[in-house]
Amino acid sequence: MCGIVGYVGKQKAAPLILEGLKRLEYRGYDSAGVAVWQDGHFEVAKKTGRVANLEKEAARHKLVGSAGIGHTRWATHGGVTDANAHPHLSSDGQIALIHNGVIENYVSMKKFLLAKDYTFKSETDTEVLCNLIAYHYAKEPAVAGESRLLESVRKTLRHVEGTYGIVVMALDLPEELVTARKGSPLILGLGEGENLVASDVAAIVSRTQNVVYLKDGEIARLTPKNFAISTLDEADITPVIDKVNWSIADAEMGEYAHFMEKEIFEQPVALENAMRGRFSEDGSTAQFGGLNITPGEFRGIERFMFCACGTALHACMVTEHLIENFARIPVECDYASEFRYRNTPLFRNTLFFVMSQSGETIDTLAALREAKRKGYKVLAVNNVVGSTIAREADGGIYQHVGPEVGVASTKAFTSQLLIGAMLALYIGRMRDLSFGAGVRYVNALKGAPDLVRQVLKQAPHIRTIARRYAHHTDMLFLGRLSLFPIALEGALKLKEISYLHAEGYPAAEMKHGPIALISEKCPSVFLAPKGEIFNKIVSSMQEIKARKGPIIAIVTEGAELPPGLADEIITIPECHEAVLPIVASIPVQLLSYYIAVERGCDVDKPRNLAKSVTVE
Ligand code: AGP
Repeated sequence: MCGIVGYVGKQKAAPLILEGLKRLEYRGYDSAGVAVWQDGHFEVAKKTGRVANLEKEAARHKLVGSAGIGHTRWATHGGVTDANAHPHLSSDGQIALIHNGVIENYVSMKKFLLAKDYTFKSETDTEVLCNLIAYHYAKEPAVAGESRLLESVRKTLRHVEGTYGIVVMALDLPEELVTARKGSPLILGLGEGENLVASDVAAIVSRTQNVVYLKDGEIARLTPKNFAISTLDEADITPVIDKVNWSIADAEMGEYAHFMEKEIFEQPVALENAMRGRFSEDGSTAQFGGLNITPGEFRGIERFMFCACGTALHACMVTEHLIENFARIPVECDYASEFRYRNTPLFRNTLFFVMSQSGETIDTLAALREAKRKGYKVLAVNNVVGSTIAREADGGIYQHVGPEVGVASTKAFTSQLLIGAMLALYIGRMRDLSFGAGVRYVNALKGAPDLVRQVLKQAPHIRTIARRYAHHTDMLFLGRLSLFPIALEGALKLKEISYLHAEGYPAAEMKHGPIALISEKCPSVFLAPKGEIFNKIVSSMQEIKARKGPIIAIVTEGAELPPGLADEIITIPECHEAVLPIVASIPVQLLSYYIAVERGCDVDKPRNLAKSVTVE
């Protein structure tokens, strides 16, 4: 969850590392730090809070060296203090280390090191790892043509239980970085006379678009002109150099106040990108390049299982609804974090899907591995090219929406909804969905970006509504069928960025408990599109109104509500069932965003959260 950047080259390392850290801040923002090798010592600056605090601190340290490492922290072991911030130095001052992950056996290691007179300044597992490397480094003989640092890191990691993405420097090797991963992403950036390593492409794309995605169990040595990858078992790896297909401008905020705002307004284009080239020539179905499963095999699938976390799980729940409705195949969705520990009976002929924007969520990755262990094929819907999930899945569908920086997922969510809808179409057309119904479905999906544009035009109206409700403390989001997951998503969005208590419920379920919360102080957002159960939802609204609960109704244009029933009305255009969840997501995203802005919250970096959750 933490952000990692390392640089070795001819430029001053600190400004490049700080720039990279700013782009990684969404990964963790409890504290940040940088260490640079200069004049025979490590100059270290670290500070709690944002990278902006670190910049001021770094200015005091006059960091001029051309090799260094930097880190943004999301605290696991030890509180949010300057001492616990990374980089850590070993007590003999020989080793500097940054780390993402959790060292599970750090207590026994620490005991061992204390007995050998190593001392500790922090409460972190990372400092223990750093000292253990120093211990091995001190004992490692210098062998011509071999890296002492590489060997000692290798030896250390053989004793480690847990997860890590690390970058290490040694005091007597000013032009060398060693980096290794197990469970935490690391990417090498290959430049001209310089090399970089980072936890995320965003931190290095301003220097180079040539990257190597490190795999679990791999360790790499970087110098300004060279890099070499091997495994912990000392097998040499032939690197595969990939080209990043987006530029730094994609990860910048431009004219917007927040990344979340930018990403909400980017959704029409994001949807266009996610569907480009993915419809059949006859315009009646979807097609995907990377499924690695033949139509015949797909035809034999009798059940689908979807696993994901958070927002991505809500997208899976909508997909469940659409596949069951249009393809008539049973679908089960589960929290990835539960699935991995539940002994779920799985049927034969089940196709397993995971969804993950980042492709690094540890629970989702663990669910994928568990399903593969049981012998199932696992496909992934994923946004980040080259992510661990993308690499470990048997096939999948990239979302192609560019980097999502706001911690609250928006464009990644609607593109997952779109891909879920396309999957339902693809499977449906193999079964009972007619050519004509397929063509109507495809045309509807193609029209989705324009419908989203229409809803976005209501932003000023939704902002006015947000102002009226921003200072409430509770809010319900109610929807039915495919919009029940959108109600869950609305509540999640509001909770995570505005710290307001919100719950999502199936509208009719509300009377089985949550109705007790209703008063003039608890507004309800109803997702009430035109359709066969519109009148049932209106009845639920009446029940809320009878208890003086304010109502914000999201209804189809032209819908007739009894006069005075809704306090606020937001309209969405009439649309195909497959497009409805996408279109209905826009008002709940805007409402949450503007409420958070009104409450003065840090929208892009909500407290306690990190964009990608790479620890359990
Ligand atoms: C979304 O707003 C959240 N920040 C969070 O629920 C997120 O969707 C979840 O952690 C899963 O992330 P992933 O899609 O990268 O796997």
